[in-house]
Amino acid sequence: MTASSAPAKVYLFGEHAVVYGEPAVPCAIERRARVTVERREDSQICVQANDLTLDGFTVTWGGNTDRRPDVDVPTPLVEAAMGYIEGAVDQALDAAGARGVGFDVTVESDIPLGAGIGSSAAVVVAGIDAATRELGTELDPETIADRAYRVEHGVQDGEASRADTFCSAMGGAVRIQGDDCRQLGDVPSIPFVIGYDGNTGDTRELVAGVRGLKEEYEFADDTVGAIGDIVRAGESALGDGRLEEIGRLMNFNHGLLSALGVSARSLDTMVWAAREAGALGAKLTGAGGGGCIVALDRSEQTRTALEYTPGCETAFRAELDTEGVRAER
Ligand code: MEV
Repeated sequence: MTASSAPAKVYLFGEHAVVYGEPAVPCAIERRARVTVERREDSQICVQANDLTLDGFTVTWGGNTDRRPDVDVPTPLVEAAMGYIEGAVDQALDAAGARGVGFDVTVESDIPLGAGIGSSAAVVVAGIDAATRELGTELDPETIADRAYRVEHGVQDGEASRADTFCSAMGGAVRIQGDDCRQLGDVPSIPFVIGYDGNTGDTRELVAGVRGLKEEYEFADDTVGAIGDIVRAGESALGDGRLEEIGRLMNFNHGLLSALGVSARSLDTMVWAAREAGALGAKLTGAGGGGCIVALDRSEQTRTALEYTPGCETAFRAELDTEGVRAER
């Protein structure tokens, strides 16, 4: 039996625009998905996922087994979750040069599923690491990131950037632009506060929506370019530790994401609650449509305000996690 874990992430800046070659800066946070795998005698893959903020489900597939899980959650979400796990196993078999090997896979995660903080990337990254090690092969984090990206790219119909998977595999704050992925050094302590509305967004659908707007309106294309400008300004503010400027740029970034149609009433409500509580800045994080916002506040005020905000299911502080994928006992 082999276990690995990988962190969740928030986007300081740049989601969606990163899909079109603009830079983005996601940051790993101290919330993890842990994947345990054990080789089976047969070639089936049996997945148990108990904490994906779903009611919990078990799916077995391989041979003639019906892979449709019997759970009361949106089918596309569960199908996507299964796609990520199946993809991780395929990548591990390929990396280890193995065929027809089955696994029992257990996923335990304190990252809400489909909420914009990288649950799928963390599960794929941890899954590839655990399954390859179970097969006696060790991959470095960059290789795991690359293989995890191929999985996300497949599940998201080719509309995925390397941001989520690279960030989860490497940890810390990272900068992504196309295939150029780097870790950022000397990052100041960032007081992240996260608000979660209990909802999920469909990444595939949201990314397709932005692409449609970009193709229809030149000003939507310019909006994506403007997000790129915000990221470049944000990188320089991050390098100098100017948290107030980072907050202002996050507010700007949220406005542009909202213009691109990927916010939601609950996300806007949480963003405004955070700002009114004194946060330096607040924005949605990830694909949007529902899920999480990220705010910056050294005090407890934003977290407390979010807890009392209608539509906010939970709010928590998170530290930057400088560690990416790691072996667990
Ligand atoms: C989703 O977490 C982030 C998006 O930019 C898509 C991607 O980068 O793959 C919306």
